[in-house]
Amino acid sequence: SARELDARIRAAKATLGDRVVVLGHFYQRDEVVQYADFVGDSFQLAQAARSKSDAEAIVFCGVHFMAETADLLSAPGQAVILPNLAAGCSMADMADIDSVTECWEQLEELYGTEPDADGRVPVIPVTYMNSSAALKGFCGEHGGIVCTSSNAASVLEWAFERGQRVLFFPDQHLGRNTAKAMGVPLEQMPMWNPRKPLGGNTPEGLDDARVILWHGFCSVHKRFTVDQIEQARIDHPGVRVIVHPECPMPVVDAADEYGSTDYITKAIAAAPAGSSFAIGTEINLVQRLAAQYPQHTIFCLDPVVCPCSTMYRIHPGYLAWVLEALVGGDALDAGADRPSEVLNRVTVGADVAEPARLALERMLAAKP
Ligand code: 13P
Ligand code: SF4
Repeated sequence: SARELDARIRAAKATLGDRVVVLGHFYQRDEVVQYADFVGDSFQLAQAARSKSDAEAIVFCGVHFMAETADLLSAPGQAVILPNLAAGCSMADMADIDSVTECWEQLEELYGTEPDADGRVPVIPVTYMNSSAALKGFCGEHGGIVCTSSNAASVLEWAFERGQRVLFFPDQHLGRNTAKAMGVPLEQMPMWNPRKPLGGNTPEGLDDARVILWHGFCSVHKRFTVDQIEQARIDHPGVRVIVHPECPMPVVDAADEYGSTDYITKAIAAAPAGSSFAIGTEINLVQRLAAQYPQHTIFCLDPVVCPCSTMYRIHPGYLAWVLEALVGGDALDAGADRPSEVLNRVTVGADVAEPARLALERMLAAKP
């Protein structure tokens, strides 16, 4: 039962003390968030993984790419644990190392590899945090960088200082929305179609490309529509519409503001009492904010509940399981002798880890 699970998780955490730190993404359900020592957006969680170097283990309540990132940034010997290894991200799966490498080779054929008179290379690869460690490694190896939804604009600036154009993957929407806000015209943002050879990818379009977009998207955020925004404005005159930049461009354009999960959280925290917000992001975060700020009216733009189904795979039952294994024995029965065990550890192989860490460190060093 839920009460029993709660007792087990609390007992295990109490026994483990500082040996373990539990990190939780904003999209985790409340039943999980309540046990997190730190809750944040993907950028803040990466920073947290880097700074909690005293703990033996980091239990990451989030999705696989976030746990990989935590492994890359955590101290040597620290174990990063993903309570349910099936918690992936469908967007991250939309770009794999083979198709990105193939694209890269074709771009090299088209643009060559020589820097221009200002020393800018033909293409800088930029990967969204929501990608496998292999793709972060690819970026590290090819002079590229990682971004999150909270720093995408400054990372693109970093990239344009070093390259004539950017290959951005996997999220077309974050790439398009960010580059558009920086003044890049849509005609200069062709989308790469990995199923077509270069010819199908209109070399004319690629000739004066500034940002080459990948075809990935988030199935949660692509559900939001301009109609929903119009309806929210009719139903709630004066409503502030804030959406995540993973939403399609027309939705971001129709909103009042857009930003990462941390941006959304802070905007609501800073608003005068009695404000109303229509939010375009994952439902668990929106519902938690609505409960946390009863002085405001806060609702999700999508009237049909839209959770991130993979974030949802982290269940308190899995959390109890991995924590009790770390304790060894039964947390509720300190006498039971079972050796301490690390379950569901996420590790990144050394060959990928080195360049992936380089791409992440470039991001952490770029101005926020
Ligand atoms: P944030 O970087 O805003 O936390 O977003 C992560 C994510 O997966 C959004 O879908
Ligand atoms: Fe991936 Fe979308 Fe879920 Fe974020 S909300 S983890 S991008 S599927």
